[in-house]
Amino acid sequence: MPKRLIPSVEGYAQPDESGKLFAPAAARNVAALTEVVARLAPASGSALEIASGTGQHVCSYAVALPDLRWQPTEIDPVRRTSIDARAAEAGLANIAPARALDATAPGWSTEVAPQDLILLANLLHLVSREEAQTLINEAALALAPGGIFLVYGPFSRSGALTSEGDKAFDASIRAKDAQAGYKDDGEVIGMMEAAGLTWAETVEMPANNLVLAARRD
Ligand SMILES: C[S@@+](CC[C@H](N)C(=O)[O-])C[C@H]1O[C@@H](n2cnc3c(N)ncnc32)[C@H](O)[C@@H]1O
Repeated sequence: MPKRLIPSVEGYAQPDESGKLFAPAAARNVAALTEVVARLAPASGSALEIASGTGQHVCSYAVALPDLRWQPTEIDPVRRTSIDARAAEAGLANIAPARALDATAPGWSTEVAPQDLILLANLLHLVSREEAQTLINEAALALAPGGIFLVYGPFSRSGALTSEGDKAFDASIRAKDAQAGYKDDGEVIGMMEAAGLTWAETVEMPANNLVLAARRD
């Protein structure tokens, strides 16, 4: 059993007859995310997405970067069904079947290394600091030399929550799980560096989100 709450799929439309889920937030941010991924990703090689959710993101990435081999992963079987249904419907041959992965459990890197690109969207605020560090350590170990790690989501900046929406969202997460909540941008860069990665870039994204980019030298 996962140690944390997996966000329920209740906020999503019910799975359709093929099992596809739809996340309105993913529909809103997919274009901006795909643009950043296309700019920072290697042109070819292997790419692993952690916590792929509905599969909306990985399908867009796989179209934009057809020479990368994409491996979506998810802890939740209902979402894995959605990812596979989306990839099948899109006819995308460069997406492997979704793989079960608890990204906060130590040791998973040995099963998926080496990867040229690893992506994570919208999970760090839902786990504890310790779990975030474990996830980042494993991602660093799973990267090939020269590999890129991109982390997207909401963060506090230099210790401050910078919008009313972020304050409310962080408080609602902590009310459900006192160990979870927003991580700070500098704190996550520190976690990346502690894992042996080199911070490369911070990209401002719509809706006050960030992409934190790091490289394995
Ligand atoms: C807020 S959703 C984000 C989904 C997707 N990345 C996106 O941005 O639309 C968080 C996702 O993390 C997954 N998740 C939760 N705990 C996880 C864990 N320990 N390891 C891997 N995935 C996890 C959930 O099942 C869910 O799909």
